[in-house]
Amino acid sequence: MSQITIILGAQWGDEGKGKLVDILSEKFDIITRSAGGANAGHSVYIGDQKHVFHLIPSGILNNKTVCVIGNGCVIHIETLLEEINNLKSKNIKTENRIFISDRAHILFDYHKVIDGKQEEMKGKLSVGTTKRGIGPCYEDKISRRGIRFCDLMEWEIFEEKIRNNVKILSQMYGDLEFDLEKELNKYKEYSKTLKEMIIDTTFYLNASIQEGKTLLLEGANAIMLDVDHGTYPYVTSSNPSIGGIYTGLGIAPQKNTEVIGIVKAYTTRVGAGPFPTEQENEIGEHLRQVGGEYGSTTGRPRRCGWLDAVMLKYSMAVNHYDIINLTKIDCLTGLKTLKIAVSYYRKGEKLNSWPASLQVLKECEVEYLELPGWDIDISACRNFEELPVNCKNYILKIEELMQCRIKYIGVGVRRDQIIIK
Ligand code: GDP
Ligand code: IMO
Ligand code: MG
Repeated sequence: MSQITIILGAQWGDEGKGKLVDILSEKFDIITRSAGGANAGHSVYIGDQKHVFHLIPSGILNNKTVCVIGNGCVIHIETLLEEINNLKSKNIKTENRIFISDRAHILFDYHKVIDGKQEEMKGKLSVGTTKRGIGPCYEDKISRRGIRFCDLMEWEIFEEKIRNNVKILSQMYGDLEFDLEKELNKYKEYSKTLKEMIIDTTFYLNASIQEGKTLLLEGANAIMLDVDHGTYPYVTSSNPSIGGIYTGLGIAPQKNTEVIGIVKAYTTRVGAGPFPTEQENEIGEHLRQVGGEYGSTTGRPRRCGWLDAVMLKYSMAVNHYDIINLTKIDCLTGLKTLKIAVSYYRKGEKLNSWPASLQVLKECEVEYLELPGWDIDISACRNFEELPVNCKNYILKIEELMQCRIKYIGVGVRRDQIIIK
């Protein structure tokens, strides 16, 4: 195990990052989040109990870990406190275990209101956001009027900034449904509640690395939702790919690092945007039902389709996974034939990578490889040799196409339902 291990979503999100973070967390001292906010929804099952994390790293369930929410995140304080209270109600200790970067940005309720207004204004071109205010909060950050946790610790500065922001944003967007005086009282209380949690996490993480502590860096969202590398503009407003991990934590790439890509055995996507292997038919519906493909954050049905090796090769090129965790392969049991997209053609010409232009993507024809399926329940399998031969071949084919070793294979939601190959 490397001193630093990074877990990244290799598709459009909801690949099962939370499950592996939970499993591996017992081997690590510190677990982090570095980008995004409560748009993420990471589900972890302990026995029959389901835990869903939006802001707190999924490693919190292991009581020896310290969890860090890095500078690259946008944090809605009420959601964070709800998550903390929820953990407390389940007797999970949270004191001195959760730290927030003093450089992270505060996401206010008005960001959610603006998110809704922007989606409405875009009409047919709306992104299908989670309406958690993510885009508008990052807009404030990039426009250099964002409010950070260090500001919350300097009350006069905080008050001046929020008054100014509400004035500017009201001029831009009209009614923000935000009672400033009432909110100020609320934030005064938050500043006291959060005081011990707000630290210089950049210093803390770098000192911890120096001391030889181990770090598990939990990615949120996924590469194809990356504002630079994803299917722009149908993306989120941060960098959930490898670069965002370093920027979002204030650490540099280290020698002893392993990058694990989480790949769902088929493809899903929530929200609008291109999805060339989508199956809007009985196959897609089957995957949705068997895989329980409904959003952990918004409850929206996830769009479902075949695995896409063209996209995965691009994902591999940008993130450079050392190993893969293939998840939800159990959900393919019972399908007679499985398909994997292997090439895209436009006007008869084969593309050499994932295209930037959505127009080009729209005009592409997908070439599929067909493989025979299996119908034996694999959810109790615990080693690779026990899997049916067609299942093994499907896995080996993905390794060949991605040119990457698949080390972990998920065969169910529970912690123990994993094969180490
Ligand atoms: P994340 O956002 O990447 O953490 O993924 P989500 O938690 O949003 O969605 C993944 C869903 O698949 C969760 O409900 C997981 O419990 C579930 N899951 C993860 N791995 C497996 C697996 O190998 N098999 C099955 N059947 N479910 C899995
Ligand atoms: P996890 O961490 C799936 C999608 C939204 C929408 C787009 C922009 O659980 O894998 P935003 O609210 O971020 O402005 O929405 O990005 N999206 C996700 N889809 N899983 C996620 O996170 C996502 N985070 C954002 O559905 O299409
Ligand atoms: Mg999710």
